[in-house]
This record gives sequence, C-alpha cells and structure tokens, in this order.
Amino acid sequence: MIKHETIEKNIGLMILLIIIVISGGGLAEIVPLMFQSSTTQPIDGLRTYTAMELEGRDIYIREGCHVCHTQMIRPFRAETERYGQYSTANEGVWEHPFLWGSKRTGPDLARVGARYSDDWHRAHLYNPRDVVPESKMPSYPWLFSDRFTDPNTDRKMEVLRTMGVPFSDAQIAGARDAVVGKYEIEALVAYLQSLGKLHDNYSNKR
Ligand code: HEC
Repeated sequence: MIKHETIEKNIGLMILLIIIVISGGGLAEIVPLMFQSSTTQPIDGLRTYTAMELEGRDIYIREGCHVCHTQMIRPFRAETERYGQYSTANEGVWEHPFLWGSKRTGPDLARVGARYSDDWHRAHLYNPRDVVPESKMPSYPWLFSDRFTDPNTDRKMEVLRTMGVPFSDAQIAGARDAVVGKYEIEALVAYLQSLGKLHDNYSNKR
C-alpha cells in the first residue's frame, strides 16, 4: 500500500498515476460511444448530400464559415428556443469532417435550412449589411462570378463512400454533370438549405 505522502514527494510517480486516472476516465467515457447505435447508426431517413450540396459544403469549409458558425445546438433551453431541437450524434454519422465548431461569432447554423429563402441567402452572402445592417459578417462577392469548370465531385463521393457514406453509383455517375458550369453561390446556398433538412424527424420542432 503506497502512502499518499510517497506519491506527493515523488513527482514521477505522481505523473504516472495522474495519467492512469485520466486515461481510465477518458476511456470509460469515450469507448462506449464507439459501440452505441445512437452514436454510430444514422438517424431514420437520413439522406446523403446531393452533388451541389457536397460542393457547397466544401466552399463553406474553404471560406472558413465554420470559424464563426457552429453547427451544434446544445441541449439547453436557451439554445433550443432559438435554434430548434438540439443536435444528436446520429445526425452527423456521415459528416467527414464534422463541422460542429466551437466559436459562435455568428449564430448556429445546424438547422438554418429553409429558414430563409434562396434569395435572402444570396443577398446576405453578397453583402450581409444589405439585409442585416449591423452585421459583422464578411462579404463573399466572388462566389457570384466563380464557376465550377472541372469539378471532381464524383471522386469526392467515392472517397466518402470508403468512409461509409452510402452514395449510390447513380449519384456518383451524375455528380460531375450536376455541378459543372454552376456558380459557387448556387452550391453554397444549396448546402445551407440542406442544414437540418437531411431527415425530417425533428421538423416539427422548429
Ligand atoms: C467573421 C465571422 C463570420 C464569418 C467568417 C461568417 N459569418 Fe455568417 N454570420 C456572422 C454573424 C456575426 C452573423 C449575424 C449577422 C448576420 O445575419 O449577418 C452571421 C449570420 C449568418 C447567417 C444567418 C443565420 C441566422 O440564423 O440568421 C448565415 C446563413 C450565415 N451567416 C452564413 C455564413 C456563411 C455561409 C459563411 C461563409 C461563406 C459565413 N456565414 C461566414 C459572422 C460570420
């Protein structure tokens, strides 16, 4: 039996024991999540992104939208009143990489789909202050002139499929044609309109 005094006077032993205790706690919390169906199985009726939505998602990442916007509604009253049903893990099993984020300079976007019209999003992304005068959000005018000239959406879908996202052969075959020649803004707005709308289990909650 080691006396506590021995541990306190031996910093190497103390560090070792701290590591063991923290690892044990961490494993007890994390490992079960890897086997629970509520975190590993998709929510009922979850659909995959369309080709345009998938490209829009990549633009969202490229432009750093996730640096100011979370996509993770926490289970607190103040959040659910504002943003809708809190996020659940089974909504995000096909998200690679996930975009939960941790900083909210702007509002959470997890359920922003269908909240505004496409025209509102276009006006807002062209110059946020045209629709929200006090907005601090940057403008993204280049999305309105840049088009997809040689998209590799089909390849992206194939890679995601290796990670378990069930894109069908037909989706992959049609992906390039669905995107080529389109403006980047169209893809980004399609993606924003899909947020929270990839399944309809919670649609009555907002
Ligand atoms: C510097 C931080 C910042 C960045 C980067 C940013 N936003 Fe915002 N966003 C905000 C702020 C602040 C608001 C709230 C004011 C407003 O509506 O413009 C906002 C609002 C929004 C809203 C309206 C949400 C709602 O529920 O009313 C959407 C949609 C949105 N942003 C999308 C985007 C997209 C897409 C990008 C990337 C192209 C982006 N934002 C990048 C700060 C940011």
